[in-house]
Amino acid sequence: MSRIKDITLWKSGEKKVNWVKNFMPVVNFLENKFSPLDLFKDKVIAMCIHLEAKTARLALAFKNCGAKVVCTGSNPLSTQDDVAAYLVKEGVEVFAWRGETYDEYEQNLEEVLKREPDLIIDDGFDLTVLLYKKYQNLKNKVLGVGEETTTGVMRAKALAKDIGLDFPVVAVNDSKLKFLFDNRFGTGESSIASFMRNTNLLISGKTFVVAGYGWVGRGIAHKLQGLKAKVIITEVDPIKALEAYMEGFEVMPMKEAVKKGDVFITATGNCKVINEEHFPYLKDGVILANAGHFNVEIDMEALERISIEKNEIKDNIKEYKLSNGRKIFVIAEGRLINLAAGDGHPIEIMDLSFGIQFLVMKWLLENSKNLPKEVTSVPHEIELEIAKIKLNSAGIEIDSLSEEQIKYLQSWE
Ligand SMILES: NC(=O)c1ccc[n+]([C@@H]2O[C@H](COP(=O)([O-])OP(=O)(O)OC[C@H]3O[C@@H](n4cnc5c(N)ncnc54)[C@H](O)[C@@H]3O)[C@@H](O)[C@H]2O)c1
Repeated sequence: MSRIKDITLWKSGEKKVNWVKNFMPVVNFLENKFSPLDLFKDKVIAMCIHLEAKTARLALAFKNCGAKVVCTGSNPLSTQDDVAAYLVKEGVEVFAWRGETYDEYEQNLEEVLKREPDLIIDDGFDLTVLLYKKYQNLKNKVLGVGEETTTGVMRAKALAKDIGLDFPVVAVNDSKLKFLFDNRFGTGESSIASFMRNTNLLISGKTFVVAGYGWVGRGIAHKLQGLKAKVIITEVDPIKALEAYMEGFEVMPMKEAVKKGDVFITATGNCKVINEEHFPYLKDGVILANAGHFNVEIDMEALERISIEKNEIKDNIKEYKLSNGRKIFVIAEGRLINLAAGDGHPIEIMDLSFGIQFLVMKWLLENSKNLPKEVTSVPHEIELEIAKIKLNSAGIEIDSLSEEQIKYLQSWE
């Protein structure tokens, strides 16, 4: 029995899912190939992931391949209620709604675990962590987890180091086909699209501060550069800082950047990157947003505490007034801007990421017992297969090595 906001919303959810289906050739191809075989027959696939149209498309592909699918959101603000309603109408169990409290969020994760999953797709590792904390009895049933994001992979590695894993966790995030495209191009484009949609402001000429020059930060910074913003990077890693400098960005510590930026986007996966020490130095009317997984990068607790006035100024934007008279605007409560205040990554990008997730679930289904119980990489063959399907669907052909070239590349003389 699902728990969602309102089942009558399903029609607009259906339209959204039908729209994305037009641009997800990889997931469509895999669904067409494996649905006649009932690949996931009777297996329970649990998905803890941002619940919007592209994810719904993946959930339905699993269902059409025989799985029982149960979904929850991986963030209290990223669920689209109409999409959740459509999934329920199509026979997927869903426990999620936009704006759920943290307690409700956890209860929803619990409901999903009570369905005793065989396979898990996690995005941030919350579902798997809860399984370890409270549902230890399920550990033997789970064939494996596909972890979608950087933060989740870090938590999986920390859990494996501290107490060991009882099933393989595949670091989907760490496959090239994921982070080169999803983290970089996907988050880059969608974070800026979301900023533009929510603020209706010009990018050109503004000073943006991007915290973190990892895959996500890079993607955001480069898109901003292309739109003629002035971009400042803050980093803690000297090599990444140097790379940012060589790419033409200004690099400086956050305590300097706070005095210069018009807009800040954090993308570090770390906490309190913009914190109590920084708030008083921010310019009046500054806009803060986060693209990292958790809402910890901007210290919202401190901002709430030191503000003398708060106003919901418009959908997804809250205004904080400080005692020095300055205003700070925060987008989506400091949760990931592209998902909590937008539609998430472009469809073509998620088609790649979800193509990998699909084949990773198949790989776990068929090989789990023989795999080490640790954080595992996506097999190279899966990455190659997805890349080929994507290229084929775009009508792109590439060269292949001749025998002579293979020999040449393998020789040392
Ligand atoms: N919004 C989305 O849709 C989306 C998509 C993919 C990943 N993510 C999340 O974005 C975050 C970053 O992912 P990534 O793949 O770029 O990770 P990454 O490890 O490649 O990059 C993070 C960077 O932040 C830097 N950093 C850490 N602490 C810092 C600090 N205090 N100040 C400045 N820099 C600091 C690190 O040195 C590193 O270069 C993660 O939380 C990830 O889960 C979000």
